[in-house]
Amino acid sequence: MQYLYIPLVLVGVLVVITLILIIIDKLLGGGGDKMITINQDTLIPVLGDDSLLSTLSGEGIHLPSACGGKATCGACKFRLIDGGDMELLPTEIPLLSKEEQESGVRLSCQVKVRGDMKIEIPPGLLSAKEFKTIVEYMEDLTYDTKLVRFRLQNGQTIDFKPGQYAQIKVPGIEITRAYSMASNPKDNTVIEMIIRMVPNGQATTFVHKALEVGDKVSLTGPFGHFYLSDTDKEMICIAGGSGKAPIRAIMSVLKDQGMPRKVKYFFGAKTTKDLYMTEEFMKLQEEFPNFTYIPALSDSTPEENWTGEKGLITDVVDRLVGDLSQAEAYLCGSPGMIAACTKVLKKHDIQDSNVFFDKFS
Ligand SMILES: Cc1cc2nc3c(=O)[nH]c(=O)nc-3n(C[C@H](O)[C@H](O)[C@H](O)COP(=O)(O)OP(=O)(O)OC[C@H]3O[C@@H](n4cnc5c(N)ncnc54)[C@H](O)[C@@H]3O)c2cc1C
Ligand code: FES
Repeated sequence: MQYLYIPLVLVGVLVVITLILIIIDKLLGGGGDKMITINQDTLIPVLGDDSLLSTLSGEGIHLPSACGGKATCGACKFRLIDGGDMELLPTEIPLLSKEEQESGVRLSCQVKVRGDMKIEIPPGLLSAKEFKTIVEYMEDLTYDTKLVRFRLQNGQTIDFKPGQYAQIKVPGIEITRAYSMASNPKDNTVIEMIIRMVPNGQATTFVHKALEVGDKVSLTGPFGHFYLSDTDKEMICIAGGSGKAPIRAIMSVLKDQGMPRKVKYFFGAKTTKDLYMTEEFMKLQEEFPNFTYIPALSDSTPEENWTGEKGLITDVVDRLVGDLSQAEAYLCGSPGMIAACTKVLKKHDIQDSNVFFDKFS
């Protein structure tokens, strides 16, 4: 009989110890099987072994992920201090410089949470939020480009710098894509985006073929280091296609300030069918002598009777800018366009540190 008591007592002791451990774990904020420590002070218990990007997003920490986790944008970088899989993956290497690789910088969309991890994230990124929105307005700007206005719900507001972007989460397939905010940040209850159709593109097909006024869409942001600087330097802006979006936000802020800086804005398009918001920028030019809008067509036909600038945007810029040693440049569009334009700007003595760009890739 006595022998029966011993296992019972042991089981009882084990149950009590387990309960105490669970209580301690809860008091310490536990609940997951792994612990992520961010910037030395924030501890997050997590479950599962998803990518760090998705895991953090599930905890309300939204890192930028412009390519939606395809390992092509490099926006989701973080520093791995300890734990996790320390070995770089082949998918990460092309997007990390040698210095970054040596100092533990990794891509959060590629690194899986397989154990406790200590990581570093720029503190500014911890302020990006998820916004529930409703599509309030849509307009066809051209045959392949739409303006979409999202109204934030539940009393939420967004603080962003003109030039920054937000990410759309495509419902159903749950991919994210980056789109620059094209509206004036002073109205912090709406976000406008200019979205150009990419043939067979997942997000743009959704926006162009399925999205309607009244639909609910989830956005995260703000993200990005491309925004209006706080200087009085002359500005050269160059955009192609939907690259007009962040420049429009920047111009709206400069307009509110009375256009204190000298601005030359070059917009490159193929034909007149690809031009949009021309009136808006021509009006700005009439209002402010400091501002010049230069739309340029590379493939205009005689029937179009186009009397504006003609040729590749690089040639037009080369022709119409002078010494840029004291100027700033803001470039937005395809990686090829940005590389070609930067080359031209350098010919005019722009300083590397004064060239800002967002590659829409
Ligand atoms: C910081 C940032 C800001 C951006 N802002 C805008 C914006 O304001 N407006 C806007 O329209 N887009 C913007 N983009 C591009 C956008 O994020 C998407 O990449 C683009 O809309 C394609 O998404 P998708 O899902 O439709 O195509 P995917 O399904 O991702 O791609 C389908 C195919 O098209 C190719 N592809 C992807 N993007 C492009 C492209 N831009 N041109 C040509 N081929 C492409 C891919 O390589 C792939 O083969 C931005 C990108 C970045 C990184
Ligand atoms: S999200 Fe684009 S590289 Fe990770």
